[in-house]
Amino acid sequence: MPDPGSLKPSLLIGKVPLIGDLMLAPMAGYSDQPFRLICRRLGSAASIIPCILDDGLLYGSRPTADLLRTVPEERPLAIQILSKDEERLAKAAETLIALQPDWVDLNLGCPAKHIAGRGRGAALLNKPSLIERLVHRLVADLPCPVTAKIRLGWDEDSRNYIEIALLLQDAGVAAIAVHGRTASQSFGGQADWDAIAEVRQAVRIPVLANGDVRTPEDIEAIKQATGCKVVLIGRGAIGNPWIFDRRQPTTISWGERVTMIGYHLLEMTKHYGEHNGVRLFRKHLVHYIQGFHGASALRPQLVAADTLEGVMTAINNWQIT
Ligand SMILES: Cc1cc2nc3c(=O)[nH]c(=O)nc-3n(C[C@H](O)[C@H](O)[C@H](O)COP(=O)(O)O)c2cc1C
Repeated sequence: MPDPGSLKPSLLIGKVPLIGDLMLAPMAGYSDQPFRLICRRLGSAASIIPCILDDGLLYGSRPTADLLRTVPEERPLAIQILSKDEERLAKAAETLIALQPDWVDLNLGCPAKHIAGRGRGAALLNKPSLIERLVHRLVADLPCPVTAKIRLGWDEDSRNYIEIALLLQDAGVAAIAVHGRTASQSFGGQADWDAIAEVRQAVRIPVLANGDVRTPEDIEAIKQATGCKVVLIGRGAIGNPWIFDRRQPTTISWGERVTMIGYHLLEMTKHYGEHNGVRLFRKHLVHYIQGFHGASALRPQLVAADTLEGVMTAINNWQIT
């Protein structure tokens, strides 16, 4: 029997209860269905499908369809959308409704050139009135809650996070996730947790804290610093999904890592087929073995292996040498 206390929601996204205080952050190229499921089983409170382009939904592209493949065990499930155009967004919303997400998240934080350079993601932080129109449209068209994920502003001279947060709240979003950096910082410097605390104090809706959480101590520290009840973890989960179980990275034995590698790789091959699954798993693999004595000698063998059996043989052989 689960402890009834542990089933108490930490917060509600609209009417969707979140059980647990940690969630895997959306990470294009990493937080796909196999990894989301692993993290969810270890304690991530929900799953977010990252960065779906409105155009991808409109034209039903094959890559988008692959990104949207999911399993019931992942739920609660959010879909994150990228858009800069009300009409396209409205049409994309029709496809979103059919997918029955528990909520939809608007990406207002991606600084990548191919996204922000085309006016989407973090570029929208410079256009508050457009954000307002996009959110109004989504809130009006979708039967589920709408959330937004923001950065602190475009650059040091335009840290407009309070203005944006208030605008989002007024436009009807159910929660805001804040990555404590500006877009121009990319991943440089330290995430500004004090700024996240300012957002939390400025709005009535839930705020999810995000940035630079890698250990169980960091989880408690960011919760303390921001007052947020839920923390999004991105890079700190790559090669370390045990963070959702609040395990110290140093306590994960090599045996546990090998078991996880085998399981994660198997799920990847089931999801993508063996060829693509093995290829796409490599970026996770280097993180799983990082820091282990001799990992740099093992890495080339692993990268050269192009079958599930080849990867596992290389790992198991290495283990016994
Ligand atoms: C490889 C990678 C891909 C990312 N993709 C997305 C994305 O699709 N949508 C999004 O909102 N944020 C994305 N992010 C940002 C993360 O969600 C998160 O805000 C950021 O990494 C800071 O959190 P962390 O310090 O825990 O990694 C991405 C980050 C990384 C490293």
